[in-house]
Amino acid sequence: MSDFSAYIDRELSRFHDELETFLRIPSISTNPERAADVRACADWVAEHLGAAGIPGAEVIETAGHPIVVGERIRSKDAPTVLVYGHYDVQPSEPDELWSSPPFEPAVREGRLYARGAVDDKGQVHMHIKALETRLATGAGVPVNLKLVIEGEEEVGSRHLAAFLHEHAERLACDAILISDTAMFSPELPCITTGLRGIVYTEINVFGPTSDLHSGSYGGAVVNPANALAAIIAGLRDDRGRATVPGFYDAVRPISARERADLERLPMDEETLREGVGASALGGEAGFSALERLWYRPTLDVNGLLSGFTGEGSKTVLPSRAMAKVSMRLVPDQDPAQVIEAFEARVHELAPEGVTVEIKRSHGGAPWIAHTEHPIFDAASAALESGFGTPPAFVREGGSIPIVQEFEETFRAPALLVGFALPGCNAHAPDEWIDLGVYRKGIAALADLYGRLADRLT
Ligand code: BES
Ligand code: ZN
Repeated sequence: MSDFSAYIDRELSRFHDELETFLRIPSISTNPERAADVRACADWVAEHLGAAGIPGAEVIETAGHPIVVGERIRSKDAPTVLVYGHYDVQPSEPDELWSSPPFEPAVREGRLYARGAVDDKGQVHMHIKALETRLATGAGVPVNLKLVIEGEEEVGSRHLAAFLHEHAERLACDAILISDTAMFSPELPCITTGLRGIVYTEINVFGPTSDLHSGSYGGAVVNPANALAAIIAGLRDDRGRATVPGFYDAVRPISARERADLERLPMDEETLREGVGASALGGEAGFSALERLWYRPTLDVNGLLSGFTGEGSKTVLPSRAMAKVSMRLVPDQDPAQVIEAFEARVHELAPEGVTVEIKRSHGGAPWIAHTEHPIFDAASAALESGFGTPPAFVREGGSIPIVQEFEETFRAPALLVGFALPGCNAHAPDEWIDLGVYRKGIAALADLYGRLADRLT
């Protein structure tokens, strides 16, 4: 057993206790009432970086939630690795669907349950403990290390891009290391080589100035709920394709090589269907589930609101209707172009008699990895050392909008090594992290920090 594993095993119950204190802080970035908790969480991260051997971490103000920046500079000749993660979490609602309260961490059958357990506090904590492990065992950290742990990832990293530019000199680096993605199974570690981008919008449809009696007016006044339903229906065709003009123009076709790689992955669509509890899978015609998730863009309703939705019935014609609609984008779609075309299409689909307003919420570009860079070999070897199996190269349907921005700002490659498992309930009730993966992942990351130094010099 390596010195790292021996140390981790010896300290593991303390690591668990610490992670639990981290998870008890309800750092929900989207909820203004939680701003003090978000800040307390930033302080927690800074303090625990200090305890792990990275003293002097700062909690830096932004116009939104603060960003934690830590540094451990070895020498000006050593290569620099910047670790990025987020300490904010998604809301926990609906709380009644959790088996234990979302901010009272609970261990059941080798899993630690809490909001943020895996997205992303658990994975940020793994890095902190990997660094502690190297320092405490005398292995040292052979790279210059910079950490940027933000509090607004779950709301689109609103202030991070400007922050990176403002602090570009201080944060300059040769590689960006991120753990905020998933593995295929507890036995199969993964390196994520692509992320979808996102454009998030809110459509508001306004009709009569107030709700109306649906008998006195229904049929003679345009109903905004009906109008919105027509708009939404018109945004996709019967093959599951978005009808936004030009939407697919820049989408890269899936190569024969990529198809062959996908076929080799241990992926079973029936297991996926069963896991989500749906009666059938669906999506764009002519593509497999993994192709739809990783290589194809989507247009989906994320929320709908209109009219009377309480118990019983109320015969009313609503005065307005609202939908949250997001699009997941793939290389080389451009979020700015997509939003323009989307807005034009929505206005085109709107019937006469209603007015439509579209709000742009957040967005981010898709990303694909520079897998030819030697840090990918370092990551493969480190994951194999931690898990006993070489990693699969996978893509991800989700988004981390800032990755592309990091690469462009620092002209350095990003390396995504994540530890969530399928079914981990990120963003949903009963989110969990597998504690076996947590332990092995810390050992793999401790190993990775050593290997990165060799590959970057
Ligand atoms: N950790 C996720 C990204 C992710 C999603 C990785 C799914 C693996 C699987 C990240 O925290 C996240 O949820 N991102 C948001 C971004 C959005 C709010 C701009 C997402 O993808 O919805
Ligand atoms: Zn998330």
